[in-house]
Amino acid sequence: MISPVLTFFNNKGGVGKTSLVYHLAWMFASLRKRIVAADLDPQANLTAAFLMEEEIEAIWQEEKTEEEKTGSTVYRCVEPLAGIGDIAEPHLRKIAADLYLLPGDVRLSRYEEVLSTEWPNSMGDHNLYRPMRILSSFWQVMQMAARTVQADLVLVDIGPNLGAINRSALLATDYVAIPLGADLFSLQGLGNLGPALRSWKSLWKKRLDNWKESEEARRYPDFQLPDGKMQPIGYLCQQHGVRLERPVQAYDKWVQRIPGSYRKHVLGEEDIPGLRQEEDPYCLATIKHYRSLVPMAQECRKPIFNLTSADGAIGSHANAVHDSRRDFDLLAKKIAEKIGLQL
Ligand SMILES: Nc1ncnc2c1ncn2[C@@H]1O[C@H](COP(=O)(O)OP(=O)(O)OP(=O)(O)O)[C@@H](O)[C@H]1O
Ligand SMILES: [Mg+2]
Repeated sequence: MISPVLTFFNNKGGVGKTSLVYHLAWMFASLRKRIVAADLDPQANLTAAFLMEEEIEAIWQEEKTEEEKTGSTVYRCVEPLAGIGDIAEPHLRKIAADLYLLPGDVRLSRYEEVLSTEWPNSMGDHNLYRPMRILSSFWQVMQMAARTVQADLVLVDIGPNLGAINRSALLATDYVAIPLGADLFSLQGLGNLGPALRSWKSLWKKRLDNWKESEEARRYPDFQLPDGKMQPIGYLCQQHGVRLERPVQAYDKWVQRIPGSYRKHVLGEEDIPGLRQEEDPYCLATIKHYRSLVPMAQECRKPIFNLTSADGAIGSHANAVHDSRRDFDLLAKKIAEKIGLQL
């Protein structure tokens, strides 16, 4: 069984990637879909959202036993490949019913160089097995993880850059959702992100073709590789990045440039003049500013929509919690429809 992989990506930082993966993981699990949330950002913010510091420290210090050969973090799973070992079986953390975490690791940044080195090697005439194994290692680990719990979907959080770790994360990705802010930087960022996605897709295809032609492909008939589909399913527009003192018109000016910019840079399509963001089928959602609910939920290590009066969500907060549940439920259903996931 191969599970679909959905990655939240933008090389612009602070646009809500981690927060979206966290909330959608909880929401899909509450809709009875089994989820593996994979933290491929060396900053490990997603892991910090799910687990207490002491738990993370224990995971990072966990040593692999020879008999078990399991990896407690994504880095621990792929690390043996840099030597002469095999990928270690991922040890997932159960967060809730139908919700599992593949923990991140600050040491993952060490893998950046290994991935960079193997990228050109994977286009050679021979000795392709090692580079192809390393470049596809995130996909291999995520699929092993998904198989152990029979996951319906893998949700991936990555850091804000166009480096080799993210390239490998994207090769492992079937669907890409792009969170954006309504500002100059986000729109400029799309100009880098869209071409990078399209170039990675075509360069991976060349590597797959090169592999299929090779003598090693016949020697390793059971070796599976990701398709590198990387299909953009739409964008999410964040309102929380908006400076409160900024006039509404300024926000609207940038928001209304998003549909054209997304088409041009990400899809390589023509703009539809006059198409407003609210009517754009590629706009998956506008994400509200949840204000004081954010620290409240972080403190309780819960999604915003699960806050209760015991957590301090009373009065207008309780209404906002209720609304956030409706918003994330709608978003999860919209995403499910885009990726063909039956709910
Ligand atoms: N809907 C929201 N309302 C209010 N604050 C939010 C909302 N979503 C995210 N935030 C806050 O905005 C900040 C950035 O969000 P987040 O960490 O999810 O972004 P990111 O894109 O993952 O950042 P990075 O690029 O650093 O990984 C965080 O402090 C988060 O708590
Ligand atoms: Mg993040």
